Amino acid sequence: MTQLPGLLDTEAIRKDFPILDRQVHDGRKLVYLDNAATSQKPRQVLDALGEYYERHNANVHRGVHVLAEEATALYEGARDKVAEFVNAPSRDEVIFTKNASESLNLVANMLGWADEPYRVDHETEIVITEMEHHSNIVPWQLLAQRTGAKLKWFGLTDDGRLDLSNIDEVITEKTKIVSFVLVSNILGTVNPVEAIVRRAQEVGALVCIDASQAAPHMPLDVQALQADFVAFTGHKMCGPTGIGVLWGRQELLEDLPPFLGGGEMIETVSMSSSTYAPAPHKFEAGTPPIAQAVGLGAAIDYLSAIGMDKILAHEHAITEYAVKRLLEVPDLRIIGPATAEDRGAAISFTLGDIHPHDVGQVLDEQGIAVRVGHHCARPVCLRYGIPATTRASFYLYSTPADIDALVDGLEHVRNFFG
Ligand code: ALA
Repeated sequence: MTQLPGLLDTEAIRKDFPILDRQVHDGRKLVYLDNAATSQKPRQVLDALGEYYERHNANVHRGVHVLAEEATALYEGARDKVAEFVNAPSRDEVIFTKNASESLNLVANMLGWADEPYRVDHETEIVITEMEHHSNIVPWQLLAQRTGAKLKWFGLTDDGRLDLSNIDEVITEKTKIVSFVLVSNILGTVNPVEAIVRRAQEVGALVCIDASQAAPHMPLDVQALQADFVAFTGHKMCGPTGIGVLWGRQELLEDLPPFLGGGEMIETVSMSSSTYAPAPHKFEAGTPPIAQAVGLGAAIDYLSAIGMDKILAHEHAITEYAVKRLLEVPDLRIIGPATAEDRGAAISFTLGDIHPHDVGQVLDEQGIAVRVGHHCARPVCLRYGIPATTRASFYLYSTPADIDALVDGLEHVRNFFG
């Protein structure tokens, strides 16, 4: 078996993930390479979810009985774990949402309803990039349509990186918010946060970072990023679906208005008006995703016990091996950086003129799960003149043998389509 420096003990880790033992299509071993879409869940997370429902289930914050107190302690305990995981200065800066899309929509709506100095209106500009996931494009388009603000974006270089050559023209005195992805879900590119944040700070613009493909894979420090908001989701980092996070700077969360109204987010309500609870509760209307937060807390415990720096090193080694092996496949073109430097563990590619959906289907028949399509980042496909890509994406349990299986599978695809 291929050995690479920096690999984790995947034999031990894989024992924590029951689904990785599955066979598909009449006894084929599952090779799961769709981690950028969602990660698998370790037994520790499954157990935490089961235990929550079997022993502690109740609504939070409002009950006086034992179960309500236990559920509240678990839910708020998960907030503490997230705060520590991202090095937040305060636990009150951690807002639970349903997913990263909801987190980003929340930021757009906070700014849309805000008073000066935060308000986005027809005299202001919003800046994004051409490599955003639709969840970091559409909320800003909606906000621009509603307010008359101008939407601008950074383009891409031929090798899949952000083109920042015109940074001073894109981010100007009129810019209210710059929102960009830390690691692209389709290209795998890791973006130069510092340069963008520096320019945004120069003009007094807020910065929002979509860290959905970063939080699962590398140490994330919101203070070091110097952003104002950071969004990510639980299900890509070993947690359950239905739980996302928005971290925001405390003074902003105090100033900005809520988006959703309802129970839990108020201080007092009369028939004519309401006052709001302090953050983070101001932004968590209704019964929150309690079990899901508990599951995310268990996922954070799991990842932290292994160590995010070790997970990053593992994935770097796997990605380096994957880039090398994939480039050996005739007619294969990597869409995005064709190197392991400054890239995450998702690799998109095309294979000659075989449609990615056909590639994905023939790989699936061999038990290899990849994602095909535009990966909710259609402007990237338009930029590179392709209808779609095949994407293989790795995680802490991925092995060199998985990469070998993918490369053999692609050989089979090529033979199949002549
Ligand atoms: N955002 C997820 C992906 O890239 C669904 O696959």
